[in-house]
Amino acid sequence: MKKLSLIVLLCLVGLLSFAQTNSNTITLREDNIEEILKAMTIEEKVSLLVGGPGNLVPGAAGYTREIERLGIPMTVLADGPAGLRIRPTREGTDQTFYCTGFPTSTLLASSWDVALMEYVTQAMGNEVLEYGVDVLLAPGMNLHRNPLCGRNFEYYSEDPLLSGKMAAAYVRGIQKNGVGTSIKHFAANNQEINRLENDARVSNRALRELYLKNFEIAVKEGKPWTVMSSYNKLNGEYTQQKHGLLTTVLRDEWGFDGIVMTDWGCKENTVKSVKAGNDLMEWGNQVEIDRILAAVNSGEISQEELDRNVRNMLNYIVKTPHFRHYNYSNKPDLKAHAQVARKAAEESIILLKNEERLLPLEKGCYRKVALYGVASVDFVGIGTGSGEVNTTHIANMQEAMTEAGFTLDENLAEYYRQYVNQQQTIDKMEQSNRWKYRNIREELAVSVKAIGLQAKENNVAIVVIGRNAGEGTDRTLKDDFELSATERELLQNVSTAFHALCKPVIVVLNIGGVIETASWKHLADAILLPWSPGQEGAHAVVDILTGKVNPSGKLPMTFPVEYMDIPSSRNFPYTWDMTKGRKGERKNVDYTDYGENIWVGYRYFLTNREVSYPFGYGLSYTTFDYSKPKVKADKDGFIATITITNTGKVTAGREVVELYVAAPDGGLEKPARELKAFAKTKLLAPGESETLTMKVSAYEMASFNEEHSAWETAAGTYKVLFGASSVDIRSTASFNFKKVQSWEVHDVLGNPKD
Ligand code: BGC
Repeated sequence: MKKLSLIVLLCLVGLLSFAQTNSNTITLREDNIEEILKAMTIEEKVSLLVGGPGNLVPGAAGYTREIERLGIPMTVLADGPAGLRIRPTREGTDQTFYCTGFPTSTLLASSWDVALMEYVTQAMGNEVLEYGVDVLLAPGMNLHRNPLCGRNFEYYSEDPLLSGKMAAAYVRGIQKNGVGTSIKHFAANNQEINRLENDARVSNRALRELYLKNFEIAVKEGKPWTVMSSYNKLNGEYTQQKHGLLTTVLRDEWGFDGIVMTDWGCKENTVKSVKAGNDLMEWGNQVEIDRILAAVNSGEISQEELDRNVRNMLNYIVKTPHFRHYNYSNKPDLKAHAQVARKAAEESIILLKNEERLLPLEKGCYRKVALYGVASVDFVGIGTGSGEVNTTHIANMQEAMTEAGFTLDENLAEYYRQYVNQQQTIDKMEQSNRWKYRNIREELAVSVKAIGLQAKENNVAIVVIGRNAGEGTDRTLKDDFELSATERELLQNVSTAFHALCKPVIVVLNIGGVIETASWKHLADAILLPWSPGQEGAHAVVDILTGKVNPSGKLPMTFPVEYMDIPSSRNFPYTWDMTKGRKGERKNVDYTDYGENIWVGYRYFLTNREVSYPFGYGLSYTTFDYSKPKVKADKDGFIATITITNTGKVTAGREVVELYVAAPDGGLEKPARELKAFAKTKLLAPGESETLTMKVSAYEMASFNEEHSAWETAAGTYKVLFGASSVDIRSTASFNFKKVQSWEVHDVLGNPKD
């Protein structure tokens, strides 16, 4: 008997240890996710839904947690969008970890060139991979609802189609490297002031047609690995806790199959976020683990809900380089990528004005340059906040002009250099951190007498106007959207002195967002708009000044005459006082009514007001002819072809063709026309032509009918307009839809009045 019990005991021990070894050997593979789910304890599952600490890549924004037992690696998340944001130096090594500062999103969108976007982000994604990061927290793609939003430089456009197509291309380019993206901030995060709590109150029509439309395009055409839910509320509920947004719309309607993560921070009601379909809490904190665990134990979060989110996480993890044990080099080819950054800026910079064909400058005549503006030295390459990239350098206009062989007025150059050096020393002493918003270095006054002398001694004046912008606060109307008194005076005095001697004045707008131009643009003969063009952008500006490159960028938003012309300005915190009113009830701070509804940007301006520069506008050094277009339509949509010819005699150039559709009258009130497609020619030699093809589906032409919760295309005659800008229509065609078509969607986004 004793012997028998000993044998039984031994067998039991054997079985137990077999079971243990067996469970120890289950490790995550692409094809055993369900098995892994079964092997995970509740605690392990919960830990995967909450980000954790890490130091794999110093300076990365966040991590997901490792579960060593199951071979689930930690993964690394780091910021973009103008390049990878990590810390450039590390303790214990002399090696550096700088990244390339590519042009900001607003400039890349100005290229209207999806192929260029993909080319740029393919290089950017290589840095993500080679520095050991799994997901780039980019692109930012909130619409430019109002020019004062502090993060507009990280975003693309006032138009959802342009924004969506650019974001999709961005995602494809990054993800070609086998790393992920996180399109952000989903959704309606259109102001920085009180961004953590602000309740965006938006109609379903404006949401569907504008604020969600760009995300819809990016999800369907880019297939991002992850989406970042925003901080703010939308119609009364935090977006990260809105089931209708994160599950019904994003997954059920659009087919998103990746993970949703929160923007960085910890909100109350983590349980609601989990249930809504927010898979990952970032940056992640113990209290969130505790809350989720308690809710799973009490049954408030069901096993299915928990498993659904964990399954999403595992499906994400098996795609990552860390899961593949990718042996990253920490040595991306920064030299090659600098060239990509330069080309990207060259192909995107916008020429706003060019009187008497001043540009390109003939170097022989304009060798001696008086270069004005603090930003000629303190050039704004990117912006501040999580979107800032740690680059080895940011080229400035002084360097770039000198390198291109121009002779700068040395006294003037030294005057600016000294001031900027001083300011930078002060900055260093103050240890300015990423949250310190430095919108503008105050411009330096130059005396009338000095300008008079400079006008005599130089052939041309270039005035660089600089604006920085960044995360955490919005821009101001005074001294930011509008020129400061010193800037105005400088421009006026330079213009008077140089023009008196028949010498030209060029303005370079090194800005992160739209500024007022109508009141002063007559003072300049030429205006170039490079936005914040990245580390090599100053060289690209000079390449355009000299004609080495022919500009081909066009505006991705409208430049209004005055700030108050913009319909959303009445509902934007351009003047605000946090101390006024009761917390929770402060207009434009605690809540923002998107009262302008769908009348954003050119949708409003086309029929309502004069502008300074219209949406889609940009000049070239050559001219283009638009042929008579062909439009072939059936009930599913249409295909349009148009031939563009470079009619200039000397300069090769590229043209952006913007296709707008004007819907028939009747039914819903609609904008006069809306952008439905665009294409850019290759570099056309003088006399050369190219035929462009653009395809638009019936669904893409639909407007959103709130009463029916459906997209609808009206029956009748549609006009197809081919424009060099939203107001410069060169060629038209039309077609007919015999029947109304509609696509019903779920009514789950809440109501602004709820
Ligand atoms: C920003 C995100 C960023 C995150 C991580 C947040 O404050 O809103 O855009 O990705 O921080 O740095």
